[in-house]
Amino acid sequence: MQAVVLGAGAGGGFPQWNSNASGCRRARSGDPLARPCTQASLAVSAGGADWFILNASPDLRQQIEAAPFLHPREGLRSSPIAGVVLTGSDVDAIAGLLNLRERQAFTVYATGKVLGVLDANPVFEVLARDVVRRQRLMLDETIALNTADGRDSGLRLTAFAVPGKVPLYLEPPGSDPPIVIGEDTVGLRIGDGRVNLFFIPGCAHMTPELAARLRGAELVFFDGTLWDDREMIRAGLGSKTGRRMGHISVSGADGTIAAFAGLDVRRKVLLHINNSNPILLADSPEREQAQVAGWEVAFDGMEVTL
Ligand code: MLT
Ligand code: MN
Repeated sequence: MQAVVLGAGAGGGFPQWNSNASGCRRARSGDPLARPCTQASLAVSAGGADWFILNASPDLRQQIEAAPFLHPREGLRSSPIAGVVLTGSDVDAIAGLLNLRERQAFTVYATGKVLGVLDANPVFEVLARDVVRRQRLMLDETIALNTADGRDSGLRLTAFAVPGKVPLYLEPPGSDPPIVIGEDTVGLRIGDGRVNLFFIPGCAHMTPELAARLRGAELVFFDGTLWDDREMIRAGLGSKTGRRMGHISVSGADGTIAAFAGLDVRRKVLLHINNSNPILLADSPEREQAQVAGWEVAFDGMEVTL
């Protein structure tokens, strides 16, 4: 099984278009220690022929062009992309679907809640329903991922609920949305019958159920949005904590590093990293702390073969 990080950044990417903060300035200036990244997405394949895209980021067009294995190989119109699996309905998970119009057959996999958001937004009808299938994922049910022409791709997919919230644009005005465990935010397990990887770009906190599920895993890509719950407030970049945004932070007593200690996960990779997170800077003490704790920091183009 192969996995390629198409984008390592959180919503907004790195640098973010309107950010003049020092990290973004470094990324914009070409500083090799502040490598730019596009918005979070992972491509997965069993044998390299058919690929599944986990979350369709707004940068998907650019990500496809940067990844030769996702380019058309046959005839005048074709694509090795057999499906897109969504972990939620945030802009950074669904906007890239709009790049995939042009009457190319593939399947969109998502929970009923997330499909409901797509169904309610007529702009997604550009994915003509007579060629682009929408398949509902039931929580904790394992399904085979098929190629565009209906053959077994060799991959198995399981979606499971993780703590999260409704997307920003559906938050009720004037009140903080609750953190819920349901169909709004899911993690994915993808396997080829031999090994599994987990993709969890958004998760508000660790739960005993999630810890048990991840124990002993071969490879986990996990929410690396913020280093510290209050970093955006401290840096003057915003008024929200990570918790309020539905994201666990990497550091701290209830953070990701602490939550994974003792889970015996073989390879742990932080992804969906916000432009305010100092782990994006290769010379930061936080990057070093994460690495010392056994974490890798995803980057665009990172390839993993399992
Ligand atoms: C998030 O991960 O919290 C969202 O992508 C935020 C957003 O929609 O900008
Ligand atoms: Mn996001």
